[in-house]
Amino acid sequence: MYRTHNCGQIRMEQVGEEVTLSGWVQKSRDLGGMTFVDMRDRYGLTQVVFNMETRSDLCQEARKLGREYVIQVSGKVAERSNKNPQMPTGDIEILAESLKILNKSEVPPFTIENNTDGGDDIRMKYRYLDLRRPEVRKNLMLRSEMSIEIRKYMSEQGFLEVETPVLIKSTPEGARDFVVPSRMNPGEFYALPQSPQTFKQLLMVAGFDKYFQIVKCFRDEDLRADRQPEFTQIDCEMSFVDRDEILEAFEGLTKHLFRSIKNVEMEGQFPKMDYSEAMSRFGNDKPDVRFGMEISEMTSLVQGKGFQVFDALEYVGAICAEGCAGYSRKQLDALTDWVKRPQIGMKGLVYVKYNEDGSVKSSVDKFFDEAALKQWLGMFRAKPGDLLFLLAGERNLTLKALSELRLEMGSRLELRDPNVFKPLWVVDFPLLDWDEETGRFHAMHHPFTSPYEEDIELFNTDPGKVRAKAYDLVINGVEIGGGSIRIHDEALQSKMFDNLGFTAEEARKQFGFLMSAFRYGAPPHGGIAFGFDRLVALFAGIESIRDVIAFPKNNSGRDVMIDTPSTISGEQLDELFLKVKL
Ligand code: AMO
Repeated sequence: MYRTHNCGQIRMEQVGEEVTLSGWVQKSRDLGGMTFVDMRDRYGLTQVVFNMETRSDLCQEARKLGREYVIQVSGKVAERSNKNPQMPTGDIEILAESLKILNKSEVPPFTIENNTDGGDDIRMKYRYLDLRRPEVRKNLMLRSEMSIEIRKYMSEQGFLEVETPVLIKSTPEGARDFVVPSRMNPGEFYALPQSPQTFKQLLMVAGFDKYFQIVKCFRDEDLRADRQPEFTQIDCEMSFVDRDEILEAFEGLTKHLFRSIKNVEMEGQFPKMDYSEAMSRFGNDKPDVRFGMEISEMTSLVQGKGFQVFDALEYVGAICAEGCAGYSRKQLDALTDWVKRPQIGMKGLVYVKYNEDGSVKSSVDKFFDEAALKQWLGMFRAKPGDLLFLLAGERNLTLKALSELRLEMGSRLELRDPNVFKPLWVVDFPLLDWDEETGRFHAMHHPFTSPYEEDIELFNTDPGKVRAKAYDLVINGVEIGGGSIRIHDEALQSKMFDNLGFTAEEARKQFGFLMSAFRYGAPPHGGIAFGFDRLVALFAGIESIRDVIAFPKNNSGRDVMIDTPSTISGEQLDELFLKVKL
């Protein structure tokens, strides 16, 4: 038997018992007469004591143990004289009576502790060592707990988990596909699913009624902290439901997870906000509503007063940062540089300080008198001590910049409390999005999203105005999920493809299977997909989804541990009828 207990288990109740533990050497301290070894496994740490006086042989052996050696120790549990309240096992220690080295270890390239000395690259290269760190392990344990809770809840609600294929044809979720060459069908390729979208709709046609799947999706897109090329969705679909029934069903799942995993009770219905309102008030379709600092448009108020910069631009908007009037010249210059960075792309930052003594100071007071500046401040119900930031430029770009500035100021002022969770449904997205580059419309969600019936006429006059029965679940500024009521009518689906610039032939070639399924009694249906990695990261209180994925890719889409992507042999290329053009 390798062990009687694990390394996180033993407490005062076991004092006097003979136990055997197996695990890794976290660290050892040699204090002359005694050697202390902390043993670690998935469950925790236990201190083992080797005593020179009673077992000099063992003590000599213990002194030779290196970090990460795998050992087995037997001995008696004793109460510690020097208790460690930080450790769950900190009241006890094991007085070693035997020691066996089960395996040696090379010196690890970084320390296996929460505050490790390992940089990102080295930790990813040795991810199996990184995963020994309690912090990372904790995230994966949370992930496991959440997926079990999701399966339990969904099956209690009558959802069936159905697996869908991974070697498929392109699904239009807006990213590039990863493709897989087919040896048996020379010159032809599978695409990996960007989502199981078309399959879950086919399952509704098949009468499955309520489907879910915790499923890997693949998207070849630029990576960020909240994006991985392969990620996991909680993918769901329901038949014979309207939008609000879907929102209610998945509020249920969200509330259940918060309650069962985080012990957080989310009261009442989640608020809903139109896309257009989210954009004008927060400059963002995933607003963080844990704090105010909302954007107000100032264009008509500030234009025509002789300040050329404002007059020449499409949009002027502002936010009010409470209690920031004391910002120094240096701080304001730093923020100006911040908005000028290429990621934000603004030309400058205008400020109005509402000083504590009631006076007003602004970077544009040459052009606007005190009455005008006070009028601006009045719009925000600013108090002495507050600071107004104005940005001007092209409307969408400026709203986006104001949104970034708002989030930055929210973080600086500690208004984004990680222990507060504010969910929100963003609804009524535009169905179509105009793409300047290609000069055509794209589906904002995907081409199967249903428009509002009353907007269908606008297809002929102003397609950009057609609203979609689409919704995103946003929590604390993170897009946790998105979905829609689907088109289930072949004629409307054809119209949609038409508006997206597909010829009838292209639509048939790419989605003929779905169009044909719609001819055999497709029920009204709709659904949603949650980004599971994002949900786990939110629950774990961390920003990067890499920290909740066992073996993630880096920002260039590489797995540096297994060193992939990598080249393949000439024979493999030949078998696949492929030639590499570099
Ligand atoms: P959507 O494209 O909005 O919808 O994706 C659903 C959710 O998946 C998460 N997500 C990602 N997470 C990590 N890395 C990525 N690269 C990534 N891309 C998306 C987000 C997002 O909200 N088929 C539709 C769903 C539907 O209509 O039912 C879909 O995939 O949290």
